[in-house]
Amino acid sequence: MVRNRLGRLFALAATALTLSACAVIGIPDSPLNSLDPQGPFAQRIDDLFWPVFWVAVAVFALVEGGVLVATLAFRDRPGRKEPRQVHGNTKLEILWTVIPVAILASIAVPTVRGVLDLTECGEGSYTVEVIGHQWWFEYRYPEADGVTTANVMVIPAGREVCAEMTSDDVLHNFWVPNLNGKRYLVPGQTTLLRLQADEPGLYQGQCAEFCGLSHSLMKAQVRAVPETEFQEWLAHQAEPAQEPAEDDPPYEGYQVFLNRCVQCHTIRPFNEVAPDLFNGPDLTHFMDRGVIAGAYKEYSQENLATWLANPPKEKPGSFMPDLALTQQEIDALIVFLETLQ
Ligand code: CUA
Repeated sequence: MVRNRLGRLFALAATALTLSACAVIGIPDSPLNSLDPQGPFAQRIDDLFWPVFWVAVAVFALVEGGVLVATLAFRDRPGRKEPRQVHGNTKLEILWTVIPVAILASIAVPTVRGVLDLTECGEGSYTVEVIGHQWWFEYRYPEADGVTTANVMVIPAGREVCAEMTSDDVLHNFWVPNLNGKRYLVPGQTTLLRLQADEPGLYQGQCAEFCGLSHSLMKAQVRAVPETEFQEWLAHQAEPAQEPAEDDPPYEGYQVFLNRCVQCHTIRPFNEVAPDLFNGPDLTHFMDRGVIAGAYKEYSQENLATWLANPPKEKPGSFMPDLALTQQEIDALIVFLETLQ
C-alpha cells in the first residue's frame, strides 16, 4: 500500500520534471533560452554546459545508485544478522578523494579559460557602448559619431561586437542568452562582453541583476542585420530630425515636446541634454525601435498613449514623471513622434 503510493508519487514527480525540462528546451521561441546558442560566444558556453551536465548526471546516477543498492541489499529483516561493520579504508578514501578532484579539475580548467576569453574582446571587433539606467539600456556607437539609441541594440550579423558596458546609477546586468552569458554593468567601471550573432535576427535580452522597482521590466533587444544594412542604419541614425513646418500636423506635438520633454530627452537638432545631466532615451530616431519604455512594450499608438498618460503607473518607480499631459497633448505628441523615423 505504502509502496504503491510512493511509487505513484515518484512517477508524478518524474513526469513533472521531464515536462518542465521540455518547456525550456523544446520550444524554440522561448525568448530567453540559454540552451539555444546563435553565435560563437553562446556556443562556447553551450559546449561547456553539456559535457558538465552529463558528467553530473553520471555522478548522480552512480552515487544515488550506490545508496539504493546499499539500502536494499543490507536492509533489516527478521532473523537477519547485522552486516559486517567497516570503518576506515585508506585505499577507498584515497580513491574517492582523487576521483572528484580529477573531475572538478577537468571542469575548472576549460571553465576558467572560457570565462577569461568571453570577457575580453577580440581584435577588430566593433565597439558599442552599453549604459545601464533605471530602467532601460542606452547604446552609443563611438565609431559612428553621435549615434545614440536605446532599448534595441543594432549590430552587424556575423561580426564580433564588443559591448563596453557601464552604469549611470546602480548595478545592472546585460543578458542576451542567445549571444553570450550575463555580465554586470558597474557604475564607474567598464566591463566588456563579446557578442556575435551568426544570422540576422532579433534576440531578446533582460537585465539580470535586481536594480530596483522596475527591474523585471528592464528588457533589451539585439537586432542583427547584414553588414551593408548596418552601415545604412548607422548613416541614417547620424542624420538629424526634420523640423515640422508650422502648418504641418506634427507641429503641435513638436511644440509640446519643446515645452515638456526637452529637460530629459534629446532630439537632434532641436535640443541636446548634456550627458552628465539626468537623461532619458535619445528620441531622434524613436520610431526605428519598435518598442518603448525599456523594451518591455511593443510600439503602438495605444501603448504609447497609455505610457505618456502616467509612466510611473505603467512602470513602478519610473523616473519619467506623470506630466499630467492632456489627451490633446498626448495625441499631438504621438503624431510628432511618429515622424521620427
Ligand atoms: Cu537593471 Cu535589473
